[in-house]
Amino acid sequence: MKKNKVSKNWINKQKRDIYVRESKIQGYRSRSAFKLIEIDKKFNFFKKNIKFLDLGGAPGGWAQVATKNIKNGKILSVDIKPIEPIDNVDFLIGDFTDFQIQKKIFNYFNTKIDLLVSDMAPNTTGNKNIDSLATGNLCILAIDFASKILKDNGVFVSKIFMGSVFEEIRLKAQKVFKNVKIFKPSSSRKESKENYIICKNLSN
Ligand SMILES: C[S@@+](CC[C@H](N)C(=O)[O-])C[C@H]1O[C@@H](n2cnc3c(N)ncnc32)[C@H](O)[C@@H]1O
Repeated sequence: MKKNKVSKNWINKQKRDIYVRESKIQGYRSRSAFKLIEIDKKFNFFKKNIKFLDLGGAPGGWAQVATKNIKNGKILSVDIKPIEPIDNVDFLIGDFTDFQIQKKIFNYFNTKIDLLVSDMAPNTTGNKNIDSLATGNLCILAIDFASKILKDNGVFVSKIFMGSVFEEIRLKAQKVFKNVKIFKPSSSRKESKENYIICKNLSN
């Protein structure tokens, strides 16, 4: 399909999408906000005074959801892209895979945290296998990081794409956590292979 046609289709799809419209009405920066709202409704991890790390946070939809739920906690959003300020959210611009950035995250909290969410996804190439592999690799790195920074009863949530890397992610998650669930929110586009993995309680 020609590039023009693809982008026209994308624009039309956006116009029809109820979550795009609803995100404008409710003042969310991304339709992704509804995914986190749905995941929390099912798994109930937001608490008033928790420490919360948001990986791949731009443009800030998940951080906006976090501020509505966390009152006296600490919220850090990390992304390669800059994020417009949000009250009660701190930002770190940088590549999460960079060891120096990971060190800065540890220093920021200076203690173990309650909740780590990752919606990280590299720019899509159009090749579904490559895209799912690249997102899967980020998820695997995020699981490693979660095993070091989460409290024993902490929660880890990450975007994954069903594909060749899925089994590797599931096995790794089951080694690191006692409870592992896969969930596709209804706000995640049906035609997309996107799913979320929700993990609780470190195995140690
Ligand atoms: C789907 S968007 C996240 C949307 C966000 N959850 C929201 O609600 O606004 C994915 C983000 O992951 C970020 N990302 C991709 N690779 C990254 C990396 N290595 N380190 C940090 N952020 C990364 C991208 O820059 C992009 O902003």
